[in-house]
Amino acid sequence: MNHLIAPSVLSADFANLERDIIMINQSEADWFHIDIMDGVFVPNISFGFPVLNAINKHAKKPLDVHLMIVDPDRYLQDFKNSGAANITVHYEACTHLHRTLRAIKDLGCRAGVAINPHTPINVLEDIIQDIDLVCLMSVNPGFGGQQFIEHTYKKIKALRYLATGRNNELIIEIDGGVGPQNALALLKAGANVLVAGNAVFAAEDPSLAISELKRLNSD
Ligand code: DX5
Ligand code: ZN
Repeated sequence: MNHLIAPSVLSADFANLERDIIMINQSEADWFHIDIMDGVFVPNISFGFPVLNAINKHAKKPLDVHLMIVDPDRYLQDFKNSGAANITVHYEACTHLHRTLRAIKDLGCRAGVAINPHTPINVLEDIIQDIDLVCLMSVNPGFGGQQFIEHTYKKIKALRYLATGRNNELIIEIDGGVGPQNALALLKAGANVLVAGNAVFAAEDPSLAISELKRLNSD
């Protein structure tokens, strides 16, 4: 598949959210990446349903919702109602991951699993066939603008190897510290979706920054 770009709304200007959403609508971006943080699973609180509903009102592309929250099962229906196309839960936050993924799919959403930098790929061995998307965290979740962890390349390759023959359609998303300096190498290693917060919103021309990531050719 051609790679997708998912700008992270966490880095947008919340006082000008409509403007930034329109920018993404009109850009070459594919998804809106939405970071939900509860102050428990991660040491930060981002935003909740009122803001998400405001985003959903204006967004014209799929919402890729990344839940950095404990006990996500309680809120899956609410995220669906607020427009989520993809719901990604953290492996580290789910005691009954198989059940959670089933519930996400039953809502008609893509079911994603995010793993922290310290979590090995092989814990996904017995669930890989039930996952639509794996989000490899390339920073410790909680904040935008952090430095990319280089070990992520090895995890992309290991994940692609693990999925081969069991889930050839698996979408591999990379989240954290992604930008023009590493995007092409990540795609060559096997990534399909690049999340970019700081690299887009701190750029002089965010729309151009998105185009530059989108137009990379990894063939
Ligand atoms: C981190 C979030 C990321 C973050 C990425 O916890 O999951 O989506 O917004 O931001 P950058 O691209 O600035 O690292
Ligand atoms: Zn994220």
